[in-house]
Amino acid sequence: MGILKFKSHLFKLPSFLFGNNNLCTRKTFLKSNLISAHYCSGNSLQLKENEHLTPPRFLDVHLPNASQTLKLHPTWLRDHCRCPDCYNAITYQRNNDILKLNEHSTISAHSQSDGLLHVLWSDGHKSIYSIPWLISNTYEGRCQKQEEEASRLITWDGSMGNLPSLEPILHREALHDDNTLSEIYRRVIQYGFAKIEQVPSTEIDTKIIIERVCRMSCTVFGKFWETGTNFDHMDTGYLNGYLEAHTDNTYFTEAQGYLVFHCTHFNGTGGESFFVDGFHVAKQLKQLDPAAYDYLSKANITAEYIEPGEHFSSGGAILRHDPVSGQLEQLRFNMLDRAPLTSVPQSEVGTFYRHLRTMAKLVRQKENEYWFRLLPGTVMIIDNWRLLHGRNNYEGKRVLRGCYYSRSDFMSKARHYGIIS
Ligand SMILES: [Fe+2]
Ligand SMILES: [Zn+2]
Repeated sequence: MGILKFKSHLFKLPSFLFGNNNLCTRKTFLKSNLISAHYCSGNSLQLKENEHLTPPRFLDVHLPNASQTLKLHPTWLRDHCRCPDCYNAITYQRNNDILKLNEHSTISAHSQSDGLLHVLWSDGHKSIYSIPWLISNTYEGRCQKQEEEASRLITWDGSMGNLPSLEPILHREALHDDNTLSEIYRRVIQYGFAKIEQVPSTEIDTKIIIERVCRMSCTVFGKFWETGTNFDHMDTGYLNGYLEAHTDNTYFTEAQGYLVFHCTHFNGTGGESFFVDGFHVAKQLKQLDPAAYDYLSKANITAEYIEPGEHFSSGGAILRHDPVSGQLEQLRFNMLDRAPLTSVPQSEVGTFYRHLRTMAKLVRQKENEYWFRLLPGTVMIIDNWRLLHGRNNYEGKRVLRGCYYSRSDFMSKARHYGIIS
């Protein structure tokens, strides 16, 4: 029995996580529920949440170097025992039975020493917890971490300045050095994009560097695509006109998290690219028109993509927030891919368009656009949940290869490199 895996360290915690003593109010306790399941003679299973009148005995964990205590619910504590009986450290999965947690959640004795909490349960089971691990794995600890991570994001406008993400990362270093790879992840997470220079133009070289960063995701556009040489898909991205700032895949139930471009050939005029930092625009909107921000965080907007044999359709808010921490997580902004507006009642339509126009005006502000020319040899990795991208019309030949990375895959690697938790 013992602690098998601790990921996090002690960090500064918000005061609402703590209580100074055991005097939690009865009101708080009465909100706690006990799930009970019992079979009725009528052959139907009745699942009823009974408010229990006996309050659970929260366990107070005394924190080192702090006068406060961390109050933990006994059921949470038992559920988070990491002993070999309760947790499989090889598969990283729980072994415990959710239906037995309550009956096993009475604490007989507990003590603290050397950063560890020892608990003896009424059924004789013993648990040992690392206190820093307990802190960082609570709801409050998670919110605090996500707030810290959000505060590390650097948003920008079109002037861009000396944004470190513009400094070149060379192809050979990205290919052979893991620290460089980790730096690519850090830049994409922090600034919304990273670029790799001097990538050779052969298809195999494009694929090798793309897959070196993350596994390619397979969508209706295939795993790996090329624009400028064919018109395989009925999308404006495959044509040569002006493309206004947008995010991709608003019509998927989950938009692909990241977009990769590799320009391999350009011989013509126009075709300059631009980015808009959607998180910067969101900040501006929140400040200038909080009602619009709030509305666009809730109103559902459906997008669609149709081509022979396919019809994708999906809805969601333009500003999507993490349901736990409330941090802004994703922008779904593509005015071209909007489906018929069936998600807003006619009585609300005026409000909807008013707020949408306010945001569109901010997206189109010249000061927010960062323009550049995607030159042959450059690979750009772009956060499609944060950055909007667009392009000038062009004449001539412009070949762009690329792929998507799923959010899950890219975030998994970012977590592996310690960039996010
Ligand atoms: Fe696009
Ligand atoms: Zn255990």
